[in-house]
Amino acid sequence: MNTHSGATAQVSGSEGANPEPKRISGFVLASPKAKKETKAQRIERLKQGKNPWEALDEIREFARKGRGSVLPEWTSLYFRWWGVYTQGDGVGAVGGQGGEGKATDYFMFRIRIPNGILRSNQLRTIAGICKRHARGSADLTVRQNIQLHWLTIEAIPEAIDELEKVGLFTKGACGDVVRNVTGCPIAGVAADEICDASRLVLEASEMLAGNGDFYNLPRKFKISITGCPVWCSYPEINDIGLTAVERLRDGKREVGFSLRVGGGLSADPHLAARLDAFVRPDQVLPVVRAVTEIFRDQDKLRDNRKRARLKHLFTQFGWTPHRFLHELHSRLGYALDPAVNESAPVDVYRDHVGIHRQKQDHLFYVGASVLRGRITHEQMRAAADLADRFGSGELRTTNMQNLLIVNVPRGNVDSLVRELDRAGLRVAASPFWRGAIACTGTEFCKIAITETKSFARWLVEELEERIPGFDQQLKLHVTGCPNSCGQHWISDIGLEGKKIKQGDEMIDAYYFCLGGAVGEHQRIARPIGYRCAASEVPDAIERLLRSYTANRFEHENLRVYFSRFSDDELRGQLAGAEIPSVKRDLPSAPVPHHVTGD
Ligand code: HEM
Ligand code: SF4
Repeated sequence: MNTHSGATAQVSGSEGANPEPKRISGFVLASPKAKKETKAQRIERLKQGKNPWEALDEIREFARKGRGSVLPEWTSLYFRWWGVYTQGDGVGAVGGQGGEGKATDYFMFRIRIPNGILRSNQLRTIAGICKRHARGSADLTVRQNIQLHWLTIEAIPEAIDELEKVGLFTKGACGDVVRNVTGCPIAGVAADEICDASRLVLEASEMLAGNGDFYNLPRKFKISITGCPVWCSYPEINDIGLTAVERLRDGKREVGFSLRVGGGLSADPHLAARLDAFVRPDQVLPVVRAVTEIFRDQDKLRDNRKRARLKHLFTQFGWTPHRFLHELHSRLGYALDPAVNESAPVDVYRDHVGIHRQKQDHLFYVGASVLRGRITHEQMRAAADLADRFGSGELRTTNMQNLLIVNVPRGNVDSLVRELDRAGLRVAASPFWRGAIACTGTEFCKIAITETKSFARWLVEELEERIPGFDQQLKLHVTGCPNSCGQHWISDIGLEGKKIKQGDEMIDAYYFCLGGAVGEHQRIARPIGYRCAASEVPDAIERLLRSYTANRFEHENLRVYFSRFSDDELRGQLAGAEIPSVKRDLPSAPVPHHVTGD
């Protein structure tokens, strides 16, 4: 039974008789009852009332009685603790920002995959559920999860039970809890890793997911732990980011971790602050627990859902890394050693696509690029079968929405690549195909402003046709609203969904953010004041990339190139002319609109 009391927000209408309004200096104050409960207060009240992880039987009951029996507090909140969200009706947020679109009777269903480690039988199970209950289509997500849609209430408990039998869980995939703990997808096989941190990822996950002490956090909480030098699981944008470092102690090499806290994207992105600490491997779990407790116990974060992430302690409440470390040390009851030098990776782009040598002799891993993460049940089954036939039956999901097969003996590599290609899982793909990431968008997301998945596919096809020889790495991220689930803030070319008026119609449009980066040259992408209709995006990107190809210095990548130009100049390259800047946040109006996502 959970004992955490959570926030203490007083909720109107919850108890007692309606007191008389108070009079102060001639003003009449409204009675507490007259005050409408805020969204945050409602959520806090509901969370205090129930730990949804202890209420699976209620979901079973809904499934027995049918969709009509599902209580509103479940659809609006509790389901998330089980990785279940209501699914939008394909229109998105009518009115755009701040609003919320209509829900259908179906549900989204997110399966948590800690460190992206999957066995073939697990993937086959997901493929089976996908075929039977999710119209055959799934999404690999930017947190190494797999998300299904179209589930009925009747299917949910059945799917949860089936997954549990193969060691997979949806518990903790959504909600105000610790989300899927991510890590280097090639942990244990990477030739250049400092250590294999996947054990710590799995242990952290085990410690936190489903644990009643942590069911009621102020908001979602994201953790990444990696032992690799490339940080492709993006510790900088997690609430806790642990990255392996080495130090010399008495002439001996000792592996530990750098600690970052308070990263996060959404509409107000913030890169994590590095603390002055060296975390030994045996201190990782206590540190993760203590930081999560610090977050849980900040009741002031519970007043406003828009300012409820750990990063807001730094951006809104004046905390400094020094103060955070002090708080952490008090929780731990001891002080961590001071930080050591680390070399942050330069220009992180590691989609793991292609054929790569492992640290184990004669073994390789093969990465297939799954265009904007969309995969069919047949493809998942094929990948599982191929992992058995040509590898050790082990697969990995990546933060760039891709799928890897590991432990492939040298002699099997060519056949595996051929078979993956035959299944439509490309091992050799253009930079556009490889670099494209897309969030869920209006197809299923109730707060989306634009359709993203079909748009991203079309954009990639257009760019492949228009600029066939383009050979530079490019992160091309599409996100259907400012929330940045598609991580546009850390991409080279980030597209944020908007609506604009064309004639009498409101149509999909995109606002450009350029030059986002993580690692050594970390920076949030620059909103550069250019917006155009979705249909014109390929023209704009073609103009920009042609300018880049024509004007770049030798070996100059997109990040460096963008850094040489002002916002006005880059806007000019996108528009093909000098044009005035537009504001990033355009208020939108009600929009009937079509969805063609497949
Ligand atoms: C206020 C609302 C939301 C915010 C601020 C938000 C923000 C984010 C951010 C920043 C990420 C990037 C993952 C990362 O941190 O590495 C993410 C992931 C994601 N978001 Fe959202 N999101 C919101 C609501 C939603 C909704 C309503 C949906 C869909 C219906 C959605 C779908 C996703 C998906 C599929 C991912 C992939 C990550 C995963 O597997 O956990 N998000 N979200
Ligand atoms: S970024 Fe995409 S998935 Fe996230 S809330 Fe906006 S539209 Fe939905």
